[in-house]
Amino acid sequence: MRLLTLSGALMLNLLLAQNISAAVIYAGQERAAAVCSQCHGIKTPSADAPFPPLAGRDFAYLKSALEQYRDKTRKSDIMNAIAGSLTDNDISNVAAYYSGLKP
Ligand code: HEC
Repeated sequence: MRLLTLSGALMLNLLLAQNISAAVIYAGQERAAAVCSQCHGIKTPSADAPFPPLAGRDFAYLKSALEQYRDKTRKSDIMNAIAGSLTDNDISNVAAYYSGLKP
């Protein structure tokens, strides 16, 4: 009986963890579609601009780039302004979303 309850709890944890990562990706997708895609596109960079592509890039790289833009250790007038309004959560969400895309 005790064992059964324990494995039930483990299952529940697993299910919760999966829901959370889906929620993270969904939040990142919303933000990317509303903000980032205007310059970076979603899967392919916008045709007429010098914006680096983001789809399929390394999660850790995207996350640290955004943190550097936010604290202005990496300079870009545009990205400093945009990253300045992102929370830690926002940064993880968009990095998770873009890194999970196939370019
Ligand atoms: C108004 C246009 C614009 C918008 C909107 C924008 N970016 Fe950028 N982004 C740029 C430009 C320009 C650069 C190149 C800056 C540089 O030279 O460092 C850049 C660079 C980046 C880089 C570094 C890429 C690399 O190869 O090192 C990341 C990561 C990034 N942006 C993420 C985002 C995310 C996430 C969003 C949405 C929250 C976003 N950007 C919205 C214009 C934009």
